Amino acid sequence: MSDFLSAYSIQNWLESCPQGYLADTEYGHAPGQKEPELVLDNPTLLRDTIRTTVQLVVGERCALAASSGLINAAPDHPSKTFLATQTLDEARHVEIFTQRLYDLGVKKSELENTIAEYANPNLVKFAEVLLEKVDKGDFVAGVVGQNIVLEGMAFSVFEMLHAAVGGANPKFANTLSGTIADERRHVGFGENRIGSLIKQHPERKADVEKMQKDMAYHMLATFSSQFAQSGNAMSAGQRMSQAAAESGADAPAPAKWHGADLATATPEEMEAVLSDTVLKEFKIRLGRIGIEYQTPTAP
Ligand SMILES: [Fe+2]
Ligand SMILES: [Fe+2]
Repeated sequence: MSDFLSAYSIQNWLESCPQGYLADTEYGHAPGQKEPELVLDNPTLLRDTIRTTVQLVVGERCALAASSGLINAAPDHPSKTFLATQTLDEARHVEIFTQRLYDLGVKKSELENTIAEYANPNLVKFAEVLLEKVDKGDFVAGVVGQNIVLEGMAFSVFEMLHAAVGGANPKFANTLSGTIADERRHVGFGENRIGSLIKQHPERKADVEKMQKDMAYHMLATFSSQFAQSGNAMSAGQRMSQAAAESGADAPAPAKWHGADLATATPEEMEAVLSDTVLKEFKIRLGRIGIEYQTPTAP
């Protein structure tokens, strides 16, 4: 427990996060960085960027509700301390992605309407499955749902977006880097804390596996409808990156991600690669805590 105590202390969080990789940032990026004109001036790309950012806000609002809700359900003080730091991380994620919506031209008075209009209903259901466990004070299921399922998904989505924006949007890439570093810490806590609790309470396994199956179902449905809506914007973005690269502009072409060439991949290919990557991660992480991944029926 002593390693656990120091790894998840507030002191450690202060040194590595606010005084470390977030030092000198403003809403997660370097002061003065802006969204690229290419996005702001192209209605298809702008709309799709707003829609994608809304999903990030919806996911982070769920993470904020879950991590804060789990503080009182936690059976020990080191976990409460860690969840307090996580609560601030998640509140920050909500803030920086909300700020991105404002940077993309969403008016403050229209924030909630914009979120309601674009929020993917499957993602809303995904959040509901988790928050139902949190509301019941179910610590084991809540941490698996939050720190392994939700954050495992977020981690891969952020990494994919980071690879996809490449050098074309340093502001958003910066914002994502800090968020990815936070999520890595959160996922680590989930694995370290819950493995021992599952061993002590094997009777909880069936219930946790059912929740994971439900969440995976809604997650795959979310990916499916997001990529179906993003087709035009994806190819517009790819054409622009290509044109920028060909003109010799200082915008490196997007990278490969888990074998997919982001410069040419179709939405169907991206959906398949993302789903595959997240599910592989789930299997590994759940396996480490003694939970057997349950495959949902295809949405
Ligand atoms: Fe987060
Ligand atoms: Fe997180």
